[in-house]
Amino acid sequence: NHNGELFALSPVCTHLGCFVNWHSINQQFVCPCHGGKYDITGNVIGGPPPAPLTRLAFKIENSKVDIGLKL
Ligand code: FES
Repeated sequence: NHNGELFALSPVCTHLGCFVNWHSINQQFVCPCHGGKYDITGNVIGGPPPAPLTRLAFKIENSKVDIGLKL
C-alpha cells in the first residue's frame, strides 16, 4: 500500500533474476547481485535492471491476501 495504491511486486530482479531485498531506510528494493535499485513502486532507479519489478495479480478476501499469476 503506497499512497493509497495497492500492488504486489515480484521480488525477482529483472536483470538476471536474483531476489531483491527491501531497505526501509532508503525506501528502496536493492538487488544483492549487481546493485540494481528500484523505488517503492518497483521502478528502476539505478543499476543494470532493464525493466521495473513485475506487478503480480492479487486479491483480498476475508482478510486473506492471495498473490500469484493465476488467481
Ligand atoms: Fe539484479 Fe543483476 S540480477 S542487478
